[in-house]
Amino acid sequence: MEVRADYLVLGSGIAGLSFALKAAEHGRVLVVTKKERAESNTNYAQGGIAAVLSPDDSFELHVEDTLKAGAGLCHREAVELVVREGPRMVRELMEWGVEFTKRKMGDREELALGREGGHSRDRIVHASDLTGREIERALLERVKEHGNIEVYENHIAIDLITEHHVFGVKGVPKDSITCWGAYVLDTNSGLVKKLLAKVVLLATGGTGRVYLHTTNPKIATGDGIAMVYRAGGKVGNLEFMQFHPTALYRPDADPDEPAFLISEAVRGYGGILVNKKGETFMEKYHPMGSLAPRDVVARAIDQEIKRSGEPCVYLDVTHKDPDETRAHFPNIYSRCLDVGIDMTEEPIPVVPAAHYMCGGVVTDLWGRTSIKNLYATGEVALTGVHGANRLASNSLLEALVFSDRAFRNSLARARDPDNFPEVPDWSEENVFNAEEWVLLSHDREEIRRLMWDYVGIVRSNYRLQRALRRIRLIAKEVEEFYRRTKVTIDLIELRNLTQVAELIIRCALARKESRGLHYNTDYPEPNPRYQRDTILQKRP
Ligand code: FAD
Ligand code: SIN
Repeated sequence: MEVRADYLVLGSGIAGLSFALKAAEHGRVLVVTKKERAESNTNYAQGGIAAVLSPDDSFELHVEDTLKAGAGLCHREAVELVVREGPRMVRELMEWGVEFTKRKMGDREELALGREGGHSRDRIVHASDLTGREIERALLERVKEHGNIEVYENHIAIDLITEHHVFGVKGVPKDSITCWGAYVLDTNSGLVKKLLAKVVLLATGGTGRVYLHTTNPKIATGDGIAMVYRAGGKVGNLEFMQFHPTALYRPDADPDEPAFLISEAVRGYGGILVNKKGETFMEKYHPMGSLAPRDVVARAIDQEIKRSGEPCVYLDVTHKDPDETRAHFPNIYSRCLDVGIDMTEEPIPVVPAAHYMCGGVVTDLWGRTSIKNLYATGEVALTGVHGANRLASNSLLEALVFSDRAFRNSLARARDPDNFPEVPDWSEENVFNAEEWVLLSHDREEIRRLMWDYVGIVRSNYRLQRALRRIRLIAKEVEEFYRRTKVTIDLIELRNLTQVAELIIRCALARKESRGLHYNTDYPEPNPRYQRDTILQKRP
């Protein structure tokens, strides 16, 4: 089955939906999303969106905070344009119907601004502690009303359609690959469809599920990065996986479920990290204490846990007014209460968990990838904004700004007449072998554990090399199995997870220094020779 449109959007988080709403004013848009439409990292965002909105703040300060957190790898131009667009993006969301939390100032109301780690001013616009859910709700409502947008739920993109599929391996040009769409599996019917479009936006989000403990929901399997790498496009900086310092610790946690996040906004509100004895420890590591940038806090907690032999540290807000705490964080309060913790009376047990991929598909300042007609925005992209460590609440903003720029840049192309080549149908003569699948399902857990143990917060050459050897064996098994087996969502995701894990390890091995989120005990200091992005591209 073949469907043609002006725009194909892969992903229904903030990056995909904000692009789709603008593109739909100019052409027909298909939005493909692999589970139910709201299921995305966006839906789980708590803290909010960083934007300069108060008189004591400035673009320069937000830019400086971002560059400082990014540890020398941010691209200043990308940071400046994202920061300057902040107020406009917040206004646009409000016009789409997003209801942010307000506060009374005399007889007028204004947006309530929170504080998070690494920010020198209060600038986090939020919707209580459920910002992402409110954004998804409003965007999906607008999408539903729009006659030009068709949403394909329970459809997973398998691969991008490029010359490789049209002309065979020998027909792949060395330099300028072109994308005409994607092969997409309808997970309900098992049918693989060809969706063709003049402009393709990759907005498939993050890769947290590569790690055993993560705040990310099940969709975050790095599909976009794996698809672009397989197609011959550029990806990079994958060594910079951000570990959020404070996920709720549960001794009986099921790693298949996302770890519940205790938002950094709780520390912005006055929460203090303490050990089991109630002693603060962050001052030993950074002058900003509990509000130091994430990489510093996550490593400090890792060290405290290893030193003490305790399974977690604690986040203490018991010194704050209980009514105020409940009013600020109703969702966090009730989720903690569900597991028997009253955060107004006792400290919350917390541990770090994989949270955000700072690297991704390489793009320019218009969201263009190295593949023609293919744009990438949101968490899947490497735009240069986050460098070696993302500043809290800069990702929703980055997604909005780059989706806006990608939309504007792609308008001319979408108005061109379509000139799709003859794309062959998906061919599959393979037979599903259930017995082998049982064996392979263990690979997913093995990869996640391997990445957690060997490619986690603190790394070493020995551990990275060991992880690479093991992942290559798994990759070989998975690829052989993929060739012989009918595609299913589990198999597509396993193949992508394996691919992305290997790419993360290769990026980590290439960076012979410690910088931002990447800490290698064999090179404990930053090295000016490596003050550049790590880029990987498959040889043609
Ligand atoms: P997502 O929102 O993850 O959307 C990806 C979409 O792609 C999904 O619809 C998914 O189903 C779809 N998809 C993936 N692969 C395929 C495929 N192969 N085929 C079809 N569809 C596919 N950032 C902030 O700035 N502020 C915060 O307060 C904040 N809090 C966070 C809290 C949590 C718990 C988490 C996990 C993240 C948080 N982040 C926050 C990060 C932020 O939420 C994400 O970076 C951002 O939402 C990513 O948006 P996105 O549109 O790029 O991807
Ligand atoms: C949080 O609320 O702590 C998450 C913010 C972010 O990841 O930017």
